[in-house]
Amino acid sequence: TKDGYPSFMAKEIQEQPDAVRRTLQGKVDAQGRITLADTDIEADFLMGLKKVIVIACGTASYSGQIAKYAIERWARVPVEVDLAHEFRYRSPMLDQHTLVLAISQSGETMDTLMAVRYAREQGARVLAVCNTPGATIPRESDAVFYTQAGPEVAVASTKAFLTQVTAVLILALYLAQLRDVGVGAEIGDAVEELRGIPEKVKQVLASERQIKDLAGALAGAPAVLFIGRHVGYPVALEGALKLKELAYTHAEGFAAGELKHGPIALLEPGQVVVVIVPSPIGSPILHAKTMSTIQEIKARGATIIGIAEEGDSVVNTWADEVVALPPTHPLLAPLLTTVPLQLLAAHIALARGMDVDQPRNLAKSVTVE
Ligand code: BG6
Repeated sequence: TKDGYPSFMAKEIQEQPDAVRRTLQGKVDAQGRITLADTDIEADFLMGLKKVIVIACGTASYSGQIAKYAIERWARVPVEVDLAHEFRYRSPMLDQHTLVLAISQSGETMDTLMAVRYAREQGARVLAVCNTPGATIPRESDAVFYTQAGPEVAVASTKAFLTQVTAVLILALYLAQLRDVGVGAEIGDAVEELRGIPEKVKQVLASERQIKDLAGALAGAPAVLFIGRHVGYPVALEGALKLKELAYTHAEGFAAGELKHGPIALLEPGQVVVVIVPSPIGSPILHAKTMSTIQEIKARGATIIGIAEEGDSVVNTWADEVVALPPTHPLLAPLLTTVPLQLLAAHIALARGMDVDQPRNLAKSVTVE
């Protein structure tokens, strides 16, 4: 049931702090170390790992892109991310030292299932990240990490995505711990920060009023662009996808550094650009680069909405509107920056009179290839 909320989407967005908390439960021991005792995957295999390949579709694939940044940074294992429907057809190189991470909320997406079967035939080990107990993908995988979002009813994914990001961060930290690659202190800090994330997600949800007003002003926009760097890049892709799915507004997400290589031609007065801004304290170099991108956008007269860390005075000077978020570790930022984009898409859709739970032409799980 909707528990008094106007839609399943509204309810599921609000449930995110609890969904993330449940996904973390039992994964951090009393010493602050990650444990994956209930995930049936041998430590020996993970220690000898040569490569990780993530396969997924849609929103789940963006959690895979975030996994790449976290696993490479913390565990120093090369990661490739592929859309499941592209994977089999590019002759990927896999062997018994490859971990394939199959991310699927439903566990029934046919494209992802076929990629899982192919990966196992080629001798790779498959770990499913899934939200649905007993679904086909976890049954056909070697091991499973269940996200604990609870049933997600709205077709467009929100809370399941946040728990997928949580799961891949836990996995990256676990791999780093096992492989002991010399980032020990950072791992401890990140684990500590992860435990405090549900509370920060709750704080971000408090910006709903501001975002609703913003959505009212943007409801008539013919197109919205989303840009970000580093983990902000997949978040920009997710923000754009959510807006397409819910509001049927043309939206595009791209890496902020790409702006000058083409998309800048789209900029003119009235064009709205949502910028995911890295932390000025946690990521000063990326922050400075993003600021110069913001100035290029401003010079073309476009409207800038910044999703930024609270107290970021530079972004406040340049952006037309800023949604301020609590500070966190740079690799954990997607758990916060995604939330205002979900709210923005949902409120633009509502302002345009759309059904946010059942967008046209979409199905919750696509069981054809
Ligand atoms: C799409 C859904 O068809 O499938 C998306 O509309 C979802 O919301 C994608 O992200 C992948 O689904 P799943 O269940 O494999 O995560």
